[in-house]
Amino acid sequence: MSYPYQIKSLETYQQEYRKSTDNPEAFWEQIGQHFEWKKPFEKTLEWDFLEGKTEWYLGGQLNITENALDRHVATQPDAIALVWEPNHPDAATRSFTYRELQHRVMQLGHVLKKKGIGKGDRVCIYMGMVPELAIAVLACARIGAVHSVIFGGFSAQSIADRIQDAQASAVITCDGAARGAKDIPLKSVVDEALLQCPSVHSVIVLAHTQSPCNMFAGRDFWWANEIAEIEKAGSPFLPAEAMDSEDPLFILYTSGSTGKPKGVVHSTAGYMVWAAYTFVNVFQYQPGQIHFCTADIGWITGHSYIVYGPLLAGGTSLMFEGIPTYPDAGRFWEIVEKHRVNILYTAPTAIRSLMGFGTEPIEGKDLSSLRVLGSVGEPINEEAWHWYDEHIGKRNSPIVDTWWQTETGGILISNLAGVTPSKPAFATLPLPGVQPVLVDEHGHEIEGNGVSGNLCIRFPWPGIIRTTYGDHERCKSTYFSVYPNLYFTGDGCLRDENGNYRITGRVDDVLNVSGHRIGTAEVENAINAHTGVVESAVVGFPHEVKGQGIYAYVIYQGQHHDDELTKRDILATVSKVIGPIAKPDKIQFVSGLPKTRSGKIMRRILRKIADGELENLGDTTTLLDPLVVDEIKDGRISG
Ligand code: WT7
Repeated sequence: MSYPYQIKSLETYQQEYRKSTDNPEAFWEQIGQHFEWKKPFEKTLEWDFLEGKTEWYLGGQLNITENALDRHVATQPDAIALVWEPNHPDAATRSFTYRELQHRVMQLGHVLKKKGIGKGDRVCIYMGMVPELAIAVLACARIGAVHSVIFGGFSAQSIADRIQDAQASAVITCDGAARGAKDIPLKSVVDEALLQCPSVHSVIVLAHTQSPCNMFAGRDFWWANEIAEIEKAGSPFLPAEAMDSEDPLFILYTSGSTGKPKGVVHSTAGYMVWAAYTFVNVFQYQPGQIHFCTADIGWITGHSYIVYGPLLAGGTSLMFEGIPTYPDAGRFWEIVEKHRVNILYTAPTAIRSLMGFGTEPIEGKDLSSLRVLGSVGEPINEEAWHWYDEHIGKRNSPIVDTWWQTETGGILISNLAGVTPSKPAFATLPLPGVQPVLVDEHGHEIEGNGVSGNLCIRFPWPGIIRTTYGDHERCKSTYFSVYPNLYFTGDGCLRDENGNYRITGRVDDVLNVSGHRIGTAEVENAINAHTGVVESAVVGFPHEVKGQGIYAYVIYQGQHHDDELTKRDILATVSKVIGPIAKPDKIQFVSGLPKTRSGKIMRRILRKIADGELENLGDTTTLLDPLVVDEIKDGRISG
């Protein structure tokens, strides 16, 4: 496998960048030629940002699994596609060659087809980090079904909301998931969700943790039994469904500033090209290298850089079931040593949490195989950047700080490892095809260097969001109407004297907690679901490990004799409604919230108080009840 589109020098980067902006169509037409098409595309691009519409590679037909699997089975069938490291270090590692992975994907594809699932049908996948999760994703793609992976930490209610929104007809799940010392009973969570989901007719259940589960006759089927049937029939080759370039590949739900997560839709050809192009260039992947992305496949990072990117490149992707601190804080380093990992891609929150254990867990671990380190999900602070560089990379592995979003499909702004310069805490330069613009609040472009503003993108790239499922208006209004003719990212950003970009964080009501995106409105809705809660307001505050923590101001009118007990109950409610990742770090009971006369909560004030910034709260005289601010200041929860 060679990568004709891999950029190997700074000069080439500059040339390619220029080509990609001078004539984007010609640029991406040429890159598109490096993939396998069932029918060649006729037109490279059609777009209209005013309508929030982009189409790439029009008229073409393809299947992403032919590009991610079949192509490599033809040339390197025995190369390792996937390595799986279990939660517990004493359990057995599993690995899959391209031939084996293709075989298993086709088997599950047959199973899904037997259940009546076909092109365009939505399949919800709710599993732990087992190889069968990657197989399930690819089996959907093989038959043209649209996968919607839901992170294994979400609650039954969150699953139900997503299944209903997508009108999914099937669910693929596990009996349970092993994460650290915990055993999470996934199937029973699915059962609870499905009470509200009449669209689901089939559930495929993988036995993994052997935790007890109910199997409903006619609806639930054991994965192994279904595969055995396919084997009895001789496991025939399963031809890949022919997909139009713009047929949807997957839906992935993500949080916005409203209470309802939206289903970000990515389509087949553009996403494929973007995942492969960014993977090969940002990480400078070389054939045979071991790529270890520590994300969960339930997030976009796992979609693009555990499953699709590495496999499209014919690479070896390492998938880890567990968490960085189990059985101890040396687990990542042990995995790097054991599997001779070459590329490690993780989140600042993981780095900061491991920093807290000092260097003892690293001592004696051979990290000499590492070539490239990556960071994703939130701004990386300089301290964490330097620790990563010094203690993990031994000042010998470039760090790529990769900025992107669920909506962008793949990385948009990042240095290219060892090819373009890095700068601590800066994502640095846009990839070819990406045209960043900074604007002020009126949408006026801020030109020149040494400036900051809201980050927008002026021109489509192949991996851009196509729509929000079932509600294109929402896609238009969220991303394309805020500043006409621009894609709005929701992020604040500064551009230094040399044109390097540093993303400073969200400018909307979206929090980034440990790299997880959570809408403040969603958390408020969940808190308000608790009996006795009258109203709540949620803001973020700087958190040493998580990046941002969740601070909730709650008006409570129920019986509450014991604050701590009530807080615990509220946390339990939030876990139940969204999932444990959305639990507030701090809850302060208040008698009122700072509101304008028109009833709008002044979050700016609440954010400052949560921050510990008690002076300079700005003008509070326009508030309905200015006195409430003093009460809130007095009751602030510190620490
Ligand atoms: C938001 C997107 C990108 C995949 C994982 C998160 C923040 C992401 C960086 C970075 C600073 C970053 C942004 C963005 N973000 N990467 N390298 N530096 N901020 O995907 O859940 O869609 O969240 O994460 O605020 O908008 P997501």
